[in-house]
Amino acid sequence: MIRSVIRGSGSALPARCVSNAELAERVDTTDEWIVERTGIRQRYLAGEGETTASLATDAARAALDDAGFDADSIGLIILATSTPDNTFPASATKVQAALGTPGGIAFDVQAVCSGFLYALTTADAMLRTGMAKRALVIGAETFSRILDWEDRTTCVLFGDGAGALVLEAEEFRDEAGAPGIIASALHADGAQHDLLYVDGGPSTTQTVGHLRMKGREVFRHAVVNLAQVLREVLDGAGLTAEEIDWVVPHQANARILDATARKLGLPPEKVIVTVDQHANTSAASVPLAFDHGVRSGKIARGDLVMFEAMGGGFTWGASLARY
Ligand code: UT7
Repeated sequence: MIRSVIRGSGSALPARCVSNAELAERVDTTDEWIVERTGIRQRYLAGEGETTASLATDAARAALDDAGFDADSIGLIILATSTPDNTFPASATKVQAALGTPGGIAFDVQAVCSGFLYALTTADAMLRTGMAKRALVIGAETFSRILDWEDRTTCVLFGDGAGALVLEAEEFRDEAGAPGIIASALHADGAQHDLLYVDGGPSTTQTVGHLRMKGREVFRHAVVNLAQVLREVLDGAGLTAEEIDWVVPHQANARILDATARKLGLPPEKVIVTVDQHANTSAASVPLAFDHGVRSGKIARGDLVMFEAMGGGFTWGASLARY
């Protein structure tokens, strides 16, 4: 039996950091409101020359470096994004070209904020069926480019960035503490489209469009759906919440992170929180938070890590891995 093992991680942020106070100079909001309702203190916004593919490439290079692998050993690149450089081709192919590794598989996955969970689970399935030996799984976004900067209910919430994991297929050792992805679950409910969507696209308006969200309703669904999928993954793995060392959640709102941890009976100290620094970076937030957790010395080899996310569609999912 094959398992997909996390060999390395990396992340990248745009050069420009924007505090709540700076944002409040051009949007009708306050630092107090943003911090109290979301936990966000700052976000990074892409500038000229910084795109989803360029951030993804930087994160991928850092992850390869961490794993100690050459780019040409990677047979599969999956990039989760809702803000690709172009409508087509997939931004994953731009990353492949920038890394100088033509010939393998490269494609984008679009599941908004749960995109990284969809990409990770797809890569895991492809590695376990032998389609590749090593994979780069990336989440990268430039949501600043689809925000309505006149809409204070959404524009203060998001930021840009990228995170990447390197996975390798390895023969599973049936022993306690063996590394790899243990169990995953994904879901979607297309009936909730209108609660979180972009009001444009190539086949409807022929424009890029702007993000629209009914935040309060999304919040309510997020807590319920995440608690349900976390239990489902734990049951599938035959493990209990107490055995989890770290939860690496999608970083949308500090209050969602608290409420989800509480529902599972997990202490807040076990939750990796980066929403204060990065805001909501959609598909990038989970790998960004993981890399931050590793590099800050919190997440260590052998730890049991739960990834989880919920986003537009709705889509949601979770994945449990031994690092
Ligand atoms: O990543 C995908 C998943 N997304 C999420 O999970 C987001 C989920 N939702 C949320 O995080 C929260 O619902 C928000 C942070 C978006 C909003 O927080 P809330 O506590 O649900 O606030 P609300 O939408 O109920 O708005 C409360 C008040 C309103 O004023 P009134 O109607 O009570 O007078 C808003 O107009 O806050 C006002 N408001 C603001 N005030 C200052 C909304 N945005 C702002 C703002 N600055 N930026």
